[in-house]
Amino acid sequence: MSILFTPVKIGSMTVPNRFVRSATHEYMADDEGNVSTRQVELFRRLAEGEVGLIITGHAFVQTSGKASPRQTAVYDDRFVEGLARIPEAVHAFPSRIFLQIAHAGRQTKEKLCGCIPVSPSAVYDPVSKVMPRELAGEEIQALVVDFIAAAGRARQAGFDGVQLHAAHGYLISSFLSPHTNRRTDEWGGPVENRARVLLEVLRGVKDSCGRGFPTIVKLNSTDFLPGGLTVDDAVEIARMLEAAGIDGIEVSGGMAEAGRGSVWPGLRGEADEGYFVENAARIKRAVGVPVFGLGGIRSLAVAEKIVEEGRADLVSLSRPFIRDPFLVKHFREGLAAGSECISCNKCFNPRGIGCAELKKKR
Ligand SMILES: Cc1cc2nc3c(=O)[nH]c(=O)nc-3n(C[C@H](O)[C@H](O)[C@H](O)COP(=O)(O)O)c2cc1C
Ligand code: SF4
Repeated sequence: MSILFTPVKIGSMTVPNRFVRSATHEYMADDEGNVSTRQVELFRRLAEGEVGLIITGHAFVQTSGKASPRQTAVYDDRFVEGLARIPEAVHAFPSRIFLQIAHAGRQTKEKLCGCIPVSPSAVYDPVSKVMPRELAGEEIQALVVDFIAAAGRARQAGFDGVQLHAAHGYLISSFLSPHTNRRTDEWGGPVENRARVLLEVLRGVKDSCGRGFPTIVKLNSTDFLPGGLTVDDAVEIARMLEAAGIDGIEVSGGMAEAGRGSVWPGLRGEADEGYFVENAARIKRAVGVPVFGLGGIRSLAVAEKIVEEGRADLVSLSRPFIRDPFLVKHFREGLAAGSECISCNKCFNPRGIGCAELKKKR
């Protein structure tokens, strides 16, 4: 049997196979951020399709951290009831489900988040065309508290764990990056200071939800920006996270501002698959917790090789599950050897994700 169909432990929890649905913003919540029936159905299908661990799209922990319309909210207790519909649907199957919790930082607009977007430092974002406001020390403390409260809501709603979004230039990632974090207080400067927000959130989640509540991170391994976060920084952060109790690390990278984000278009051929896997392998050599390999993984053979060669413990995919939520089942049954996703990126749809290529074919 392929190693991909063997179970793996994330902290105290067992994931039935090595396939992860990497967090994918569904654009399906209502205007307030309440979970919709369409969203519940999307997650039910991923579970029916045998994805071992499903990670939701990013849910915002403060109103100032809303990144886009139709994004799921987790900033208030009133969202718990709606959120609970997701794990309830998923748990009819062996799959596990984590809520990704996030704050957009400066990668949003005033009209979406209701204030001048915030950041560790006032560094202009040429993509969102935002000059953010620097957060005060007390606001950073409040941010940590709100991330911890959001994790508590996820637990209350029945999620098996949470993923802290520390990638792609969003707020925690912008604390990690020396490009966006120019602070000279305890939240900026050396890597241990830039990682303080993430580490305090992690320790707080573990204290309030219990050490047995699985908490993982999606970590930028590079910003692709001169003066930005480097792989060496990421390795050090991974070591600090492990010491603070992280249960797994999904390795991503990129920042829109660098002109090189996390969702690379136009991949073809097995040689191009797994564009962040080498960074994952470097991090895996430094830590003992499970590491998730990511970035353009499309074929079963490549996925298998990544895990068999010990470069990662799990493989994360996003777009292939938009194309076919039953891909894992199809792999297991021998009905597919690879995803038909061509990485055209036409699935980003503010009215709800979907494969535009598939629609065209039909
Ligand atoms: C429509 C769409 C929405 C995404 N939303 C998120 C998100 O909410 N959080 C996140 O960490 N990454 C998000 N991503 C990035 C994916 O999780 C993944 O890291 C990236 O697409 C590379 O994997 P892939 O080549 O298998 O698609 C999104 C990607 C797509 C295509
Ligand atoms: S639109 Fe379809 S083929 Fe194109 S990237 Fe999205 S899932 Fe893949």
